[in-house]
Amino acid sequence: MKNLYFSLRGFITYSIYRFILRPVIFLWLPEIAHNKLKYFGKALSSNQLGRSLLNTLFFYKNKSLNLTINGISYKNPIGLSAGFDKDGELTDAYPELGFGFAELGSFTGKICPGNPGVGRRLFRMPKSKSILVWYGLNNQGAEAISSRLANKEFRIPIGVNAAKSNLTPEFNLTDSINDYLKTLRCFQGIGDYFTINISCPNTQDREPFVDKDNLEALLSAISEQRADNRPIYVKLAADLEIDEINTIVDACLKFKMDGVVLTNLAKPEFNKEYVKDELVFHKGAMSGLPLQRISTNVIRHVYRRTRGKLTIIGVGGVFNAEDAYEKITSGASLVELITGMIFEGPQLIGEINRGLVELLEKDGFSSIEQAIGSKNPLPKLASEIG
Ligand SMILES: Cc1cc2nc3c(=O)[nH]c(=O)nc-3n(C[C@H](O)[C@H](O)[C@H](O)COP(=O)(O)O)c2cc1C
Repeated sequence: MKNLYFSLRGFITYSIYRFILRPVIFLWLPEIAHNKLKYFGKALSSNQLGRSLLNTLFFYKNKSLNLTINGISYKNPIGLSAGFDKDGELTDAYPELGFGFAELGSFTGKICPGNPGVGRRLFRMPKSKSILVWYGLNNQGAEAISSRLANKEFRIPIGVNAAKSNLTPEFNLTDSINDYLKTLRCFQGIGDYFTINISCPNTQDREPFVDKDNLEALLSAISEQRADNRPIYVKLAADLEIDEINTIVDACLKFKMDGVVLTNLAKPEFNKEYVKDELVFHKGAMSGLPLQRISTNVIRHVYRRTRGKLTIIGVGGVFNAEDAYEKITSGASLVELITGMIFEGPQLIGEINRGLVELLEKDGFSSIEQAIGSKNPLPKLASEIG
């Protein structure tokens, strides 16, 4: 009976989104639509009536999805990925939508307006099920955002994603490290885990922390400043060579990071899995389906190389429960998404969680924790890892 109710609810909310709301939302420029939706979501979730409505329409829970990762308890493994809520404004809405956690940001040490061309920094690629992103880390800055969030009670675990301010094309190692450290200091005591984003594809000075010496200097400074045992994860780019992935992952182990987020957006020049005529802007990087296979392959590799010692948060092209389950059985403990929610609607989170429960039952697991890495057996010999 309960299942019938959730199936019906999912069908109705999907149909309303897909055939009424989405066509309207897609009439606006994507960045304008993003801002309007955030405004609407904030207004709706700011009062009890609005929150109850969201809860009735979207919330889903099941005990078999509960898990504890690096000491943090999650009600389910599906989270919001960084970039949707760049100023941390919608935290009252996420628990009602059924998210197990939400990663906010990226936040930067200095106030950051992002790349020029406000209103024209996002491009929809519907046939490719992707969004071309050219934001460039626009956010109000760590100080203002952390002051606003300081006394807020979050009802789900919150990730604080820290990136380096995108203000100049010149790279300065000391200034850049201090920029990250400032965000970590500002958010001391706020949120549940940190993500160090070294992989924004849209910054003026590119991705300097792929370089081993720069990365080790950053991670060493972060380790020294670490004031509590809150987990720290490092977010990797999608377009890395295998040697670069190995270097970053080895550094994460060396400096006792807790895990990695795999992966950030994919640059079109390294990725052919999109419909060519949809690429109407020559800068930026793609989310969604073009990223799906790449991120899952990176998850598989990192899980094997680290023998599961680093927690993996898998992200990229999750549009249904099967996509999320593939990332989990490949080695991800948690899964994040943005693009799936934009194309399929906010009911997707509950629907993925409901689908995960069925997939667990089918595979004979009583808990989601048992499924992590279950289809990516660890190699016996180091030479098999690559
Ligand atoms: C509009 C948009 C903005 C994003 N901004 C950020 C960001 O500020 N920091 C970050 O770490 N990732 C950012 N990302 C990348 C996402 O966190 C995620 O890694 C990527 O979109 C793949 O997930 P998806 O296919 O479910 O969208 C952004 C993605 C989108 C679509």
